[in-house]
Amino acid sequence: MINRSKTSKVCMTLLGASAFIFVQPVQAADKTGQAVVQEVCAGCHLTGKDGAPVIGDVQGWLSHTKNGLVKLTENAISGIGKMPAHGGQPILTDLEISRAVAFMVSSGKAVDPTKPYASPTSVTAEQLVTTRCAACHEDAKSGAPRLGDFPAWKPRFQKGMDGLMHSAIGGHKGMPSRGGMDNLSDTDMRNAVTYMVVQSATYKAQP
Ligand code: HEC
Ligand code: HEC
Repeated sequence: MINRSKTSKVCMTLLGASAFIFVQPVQAADKTGQAVVQEVCAGCHLTGKDGAPVIGDVQGWLSHTKNGLVKLTENAISGIGKMPAHGGQPILTDLEISRAVAFMVSSGKAVDPTKPYASPTSVTAEQLVTTRCAACHEDAKSGAPRLGDFPAWKPRFQKGMDGLMHSAIGGHKGMPSRGGMDNLSDTDMRNAVTYMVVQSATYKAQP
């Protein structure tokens, strides 16, 4: 009896711990455009640093906005000229970038979009994984789950695709945010993660 209650207590603790571990790396809900602008973009876009178009300067934005919000958002995600990809914060999702762009261009009047205006795809998943992600995932550098190694990936699958996406975008232990490539979009990341997951699942099917 004592043993059993002890065991169940340990189980409860483990459950609690695992719930904590699985929930922790998941990012909080997407930030509002206003919050992103205040925390990240204002540093350059309030002062016009490096030639950044200034928030509220309608004339200054005209030459940029003529191509439409989709193009502006793509450029903010991938970076352009002295504008760093994702405003220098690769942890920001493409939706958060879209909201920040809408906020800046409208001087705070636009409603936050619920979907990103644009999430450009720059390369195919296979190219991305084999040329970039493989740098660590090919030979398990710093404890990276190896490509095609089902047992290494299995415990991570419990997070689901969204959980893995949050890790891949926001970074996770030895894994830097977006694998260290700030200009990759959420779409690029989702394609790459899906490719990795499918590869390791295929491995399981092999005799
Ligand atoms: C380190 C300074 C810096 C930060 C931080 C920064 N920007 Fe910029 N941004 C620039 C500069 C400089 C330009 C002008 C680039 C050019 O046109 O060559 C620019 C241009 C832009 C443009 C116009 C792009 C186009 O197609 O003409 C958008 C949109 C933009 N930034 C959005 C953002 C958002 C959103 C954030 C915050 C998440 C942000 N920026 C953070 C420096 C910055
Ligand atoms: C600089 C080395 C490095 C690069 C480059 C890298 N990764 Fe990782 N990755 C890691 C390490 C280390 C881990 C294990 C971290 C951990 O224990 O969760 C990891 C874990 C992951 C995980 C599992 C995260 C989780 O929550 O369990 C995913 C998914 C992932 N990487 C995707 C990618 C993708 C996609 C790319 C390419 C765009 C990439 N990684 C590039 C080092 C890297």
